[in-house]
Amino acid sequence: MVSTTTATAETTSNPVVQENENEQKSKENGTAKASARHQAVGHKSLLKSDGLYQYILETSVYPREHESLKGLREMTANHPWNLMTTSADEGQFLMMLLKLINAKNTIEVGVYTGYSLLSTALALPPDGKIIAMDIHRKNFELGYPFMVQAGVSDKIDFREGPALATLDQMLTEVCEARLKFAITT
Ligand SMILES: C[S@@+](CC[C@H](N)C(=O)[O-])C[C@H]1O[C@@H](n2cnc3c(N)ncnc32)[C@H](O)[C@@H]1O
Repeated sequence: MVSTTTATAETTSNPVVQENENEQKSKENGTAKASARHQAVGHKSLLKSDGLYQYILETSVYPREHESLKGLREMTANHPWNLMTTSADEGQFLMMLLKLINAKNTIEVGVYTGYSLLSTALALPPDGKIIAMDIHRKNFELGYPFMVQAGVSDKIDFREGPALATLDQMLTEVCEARLKFAITT
C-alpha cells in the first residue's frame, strides 16, 4: 500500500514519466491528445516532451512573467492566429539578451499582438525606443492596452505596412540626417 502511494507520487512529479504515461494513455484511447496539446500550447522549443515544457513554464517561466505580459498572453490565446505568438519562455530569453547587450534602440519586424514587443519594451531602459513594423495594425491594437498598462507605450513607435518599405524609409532618413550633419560641420 505504502509503496504504491510512493510510486504514484514519483510518477506524477516526474514530467517526462508523466508525459510518457499521457502519450501511452492517448494511444490506448486511440486519440491524438498529446499532439493536440502540443499545438495548443504553441510549443516551439527544442524540447521534445510537452510534459517537461509545461513543467518548466509552470515552475520557472510563468512565476517570473510580468502581469501585463500575462494579460497579453491570455488575451492572445483566444485569438484565431495565436500560434504566431512568441511564447513566454522565448520572451524571457529575449529580455535577458536585450539586458546583456544594454540595448537601447531596437526594431521589431512582425508584431502580431505584441508579446515580444512588450517583452522588449520592458527590458529596455526608460529612454529606450522600438520601431515596430507590421502589415496589420489591428492585431497590434489588441495588445496595445497591455503596453499602456505596463507603462512602456511611450517607447513604442508602431509603423503599419510592409517592413521592407519601412526599413527603406528609415535608411533614407538616416542617410539624410548624416548628410545634413556633414554639411553643417
Ligand atoms: C510570427 S508573427 C510575429 C509574432 C510576434 N513577434 C509576437 O511576439 O507575437 C509574424 C507577423 O509578421 C507580420 N508580417 C508578415 N509579413 C510582413 C511584412 N512584409 N512586413 C511587416 N510585417 C509582416 C504578420 O502580420 C505577423 O503579425
